[in-house]
Amino acid sequence: MSEPVLSARALAKTYQSGDRRIGVLRDVSLEVAAGESLSIRGESGSGKSTLLNLLSGLDAPDTGAITWEGAPPSTARRATYLGMVFQAFYLIPELDAAENVLMAARMIRAPGRAERARAADLLARVGLAERAAHLPAQLSGGERQRVAVARALMNSPRLLLADEPTGNLDEHTGDAVIELLLALCRETATALVLVTHNAAHAQKTNRQLFLREGVLSHA
Ligand SMILES: Nc1ncnc2c1ncn2[C@@H]1O[C@H](COP(=O)(O)OP(=O)(O)O)[C@@H](O)[C@H]1O
Ligand SMILES: [Mg+2]
Repeated sequence: MSEPVLSARALAKTYQSGDRRIGVLRDVSLEVAAGESLSIRGESGSGKSTLLNLLSGLDAPDTGAITWEGAPPSTARRATYLGMVFQAFYLIPELDAAENVLMAARMIRAPGRAERARAADLLARVGLAERAAHLPAQLSGGERQRVAVARALMNSPRLLLADEPTGNLDEHTGDAVIELLLALCRETATALVLVTHNAAHAQKTNRQLFLREGVLSHA
């Protein structure tokens, strides 16, 4: 048996707010195998983004443990292990689409010919071959998110975390982005954790989970 790409055991997380402590996650456990996709739904404020921050190693749980293929998350591994896609795209406005995709490679080393070719291939794969030299402001929302998907996959991550990636898109555009995200993850056996409010999108993943009162349960 190979180690799960992602394992979370009994995560708890509270936030301090003034003199109050707000419990967000009480007892969250999760395992994701290589190439597996799962969705997490839950009301606004239920802690979905908090959970993804923990799974990405960007924030630490109060108690509980996370492993990426058996080892704890680390900054050194994150750039190659993990891709992330957010509701708000987070492209760099001064850089064109190709340079935004290459930013992921720059986290590791100065990109050379191979990285530029890969960025171009990825932009073509997300249907933006003709938009490589466009700035984010010159792209539609759906196009921006497709650039963000290409960037997230640039370093061939084992795991992709997507936090409401269609939250800023119209229904039709959102559907297309989800189809693309799922197809690319399938092709490359990238594990996917998709946070979404869209029940139809959630149904397209291998497993459907709900976050409710700080606990993750099967839908
Ligand atoms: N940095 C923070 N400091 C204090 N409270 C926070 C912080 N981040 C999130 N929260 C609170 O934690 C709860 C869960 O937030 P979040 O994880 O963003 O939920 P979701 O993504 O499901 O909408 C909310 O009540 C939110 O206000
Ligand atoms: Mg959120």
